[in-house]
Amino acid sequence: MVKLTDQEFLEFVGYMQKNYGIDLTKKRILIEGRLSNLIEKKGMRSFGEYLDSIKRNNKDEITTLVNKLTTNYTFFNREENHFKFLREVILPYQEKNNKSKILNIWSAGCSSGEEPYTLAMVLDDYFKFMSSQWKIQIYATDISENVLSKAREGIYGDDSLKDLPESYKKRYFEKTKDGKYQVLPEIKKNVTFKVFNLMDTVTAKNKYDVIFCRNVMIYFNAETKIKIVNKFYEATKPGGYLMIGHAETIQRDKSKYIYISPAIYKKE
Ligand SMILES: C[S@@+](CC[C@H](N)C(=O)[O-])C[C@H]1O[C@@H](n2cnc3c(N)ncnc32)[C@H](O)[C@@H]1O
Repeated sequence: MVKLTDQEFLEFVGYMQKNYGIDLTKKRILIEGRLSNLIEKKGMRSFGEYLDSIKRNNKDEITTLVNKLTTNYTFFNREENHFKFLREVILPYQEKNNKSKILNIWSAGCSSGEEPYTLAMVLDDYFKFMSSQWKIQIYATDISENVLSKAREGIYGDDSLKDLPESYKKRYFEKTKDGKYQVLPEIKKNVTFKVFNLMDTVTAKNKYDVIFCRNVMIYFNAETKIKIVNKFYEATKPGGYLMIGHAETIQRDKSKYIYISPAIYKKE
């Protein structure tokens, strides 16, 4: 087993923090446990050698690394309260007041697509026959190209759909020959997937009515988290919302968002 030296550990933690926001200060055992096998398989002799190859900016290498240190776990209709709030508060308001009939939503850290597709389904279900009059643009981003290719494919097993209402299962999926569920093109067309590292600068031409960034900031330390939340704030339209994971919090004195209810924030 390849051993992680104190020096390599510090270097690794510093590099991951600076470039990917991921806080590994308390994760020494996890780093060693999850990466030493990989390093050995690559024929490398030390974590130092591995970190050098990461620094050369090899995209596949970086995706594998982030995948090993984080989780992509997600499912349809996760933390349903947010979708309920969307249906009961945000969409009635938009329907009444949004004359442009353009809705921009960002699913940041979308993993394999279950979150942005749930959003597209809730919107389609809400607007029903009026949906063609609305321009719905859901931007779905993640740092990992692997999960995004699964998202673009849009094929899921039973497990991912277990919390989705039966009516959605019937309306928005086609059953594949091997018993899986394929998201219909009419839902897919409203979702655009792109690689994006949340540590990078946000240059949104269009600002967002709602931003979902759920169960992503758990990896970040307090300082990085607030920097990212402030970037989201700049990218939110006045009157727009930020949804975070229910296990996450935002330090209220460090952000201009107004707290609405658990895991829901608003830009006034
Ligand atoms: C647990 S999943 C969350 C999926 C979905 N938002 C949900 O709540 O079910 C976390 C995702 O965050 C992504 N991620 C981690 N660090 C990131 C970063 N710096 N920039 C963008 N995405 C990141 C991971 O690749 C992973 O797919």
